[in-house]
Amino acid sequence: MLTDISYRNYRRSDDIHGTVLYPAVMVAPVQKDILVDLSRQDAVNRILDPFHGSGTALYESHLVFPAAEILGCDINPFANLITRTKLTGVAPNIENDIESITRHLREDSTDAVYEFPNREKWFRDDVAQSLTQIRNAIRTVATPENRMFFWCMMSDVVRRYSNSRSSTYKLHIKPQEKIDEMPNSVIADFLRSIMANYHQYELVHCTNFRLFKQDALLCLPQFKCDNRVDVLITSPPYGDNQTTVPYGLFSSLALRWIDPADLDLEGWELDNYSVIDSHSLGSHAKRFSLDPFQTDLLKPFINCISEEKTKKVNNFFFDYFRFLDLSVEAVGKYIVLTVGNRTVDRVKIDMASITARYLRAKGFIEHQTVSRDILNKRTPPLTSKVNDAPVESMGKEYVLIYKKPRM
Ligand SMILES: C[S@@+](CC[C@H](N)C(=O)[O-])C[C@H]1O[C@@H](n2cnc3c(N)ncnc32)[C@H](O)[C@@H]1O
Repeated sequence: MLTDISYRNYRRSDDIHGTVLYPAVMVAPVQKDILVDLSRQDAVNRILDPFHGSGTALYESHLVFPAAEILGCDINPFANLITRTKLTGVAPNIENDIESITRHLREDSTDAVYEFPNREKWFRDDVAQSLTQIRNAIRTVATPENRMFFWCMMSDVVRRYSNSRSSTYKLHIKPQEKIDEMPNSVIADFLRSIMANYHQYELVHCTNFRLFKQDALLCLPQFKCDNRVDVLITSPPYGDNQTTVPYGLFSSLALRWIDPADLDLEGWELDNYSVIDSHSLGSHAKRFSLDPFQTDLLKPFINCISEEKTKKVNNFFFDYFRFLDLSVEAVGKYIVLTVGNRTVDRVKIDMASITARYLRAKGFIEHQTVSRDILNKRTPPLTSKVNDAPVESMGKEYVLIYKKPRM
């Protein structure tokens, strides 16, 4: 059983999970402790994270269960790229490729700036010139694993040198004087990131994994009946992406620079900057409604919020309950969910208790529930104002570990 999961001294920058920025990531050692605990309870051969994000749980799963099949899904192609790169690692010729990229980037460039819609809004011309040079150099790398690693390293530089504020995951333009005074060390910073991080990608070379760049609600049905997974471990979104954490918007600038040939795309992901968020959990409801049990679970919260917000919350939970229904069918042994509570109109929506009651109603048995304070949050403790009063953002996360009863 788990005891203390606070991990107050854990620093993401000490491991692979600190090498690429992604919003709302799990705390790796917590997930590892859970998996080690499960390894003492039962045999685990297949593990699935249907919202894998930057791949924290999947990477840790491979460390704890090196022989297990690792399965993951995410709607965001940038999440898919990061996770694939962490699991695959770099190839043995990485140092040769670093040398050749460095040589390329030391030469004077006459490359025409790579263009895409709104490029001038989000990148100063000289920054775009440097990023074009990096992009062209990466495209010459023949080894796919190494190329993926270089795209990941480029993504942080793209974000850092964009005209968007770094204080938010959304896209918010910086004041013009801040844009003008930004020094251009794009190429030096990119090379520094490579040198600082490539050793982390030499440690793991998982070959037994499959990632689905897909909507989890479409991906999960394949795992029922004889195709179940032993453990489903994930941290689902806790509200629709547009009003909570905009994973797609955050990724959109990096996605514009990465060669589409190296991304797993369904075809719509680059249509506009917010399209990934508008396809994410909470976007499916439209003509459907919640069943009486689901309505009952939400009633204590819904009764106290405005009509306009109620519709959004209901839409989100329509998809969330569908995710739980599909997960219950996909799981053979354990479901592990890391969830946070969300505040709407100053009402705390208790995701942990809603989820626990739902799983119990489906016959699942509590193995353990633990909580921890969220320490290093980018979102300030008071995020927005409703009726002129500040609203508290999520401050605690809960890990719900539930067991499927034996048939
Ligand atoms: C809380 S994050 C997961 C973070 C991850 N645990 C990590 O440590 O990086 C939730 C993820 O769900 C993804 N997502 C949202 N809606 C989705 C959907 N309908 N299908 C698949 N993935 C979705 C988002 O792109 C995001 O990566």
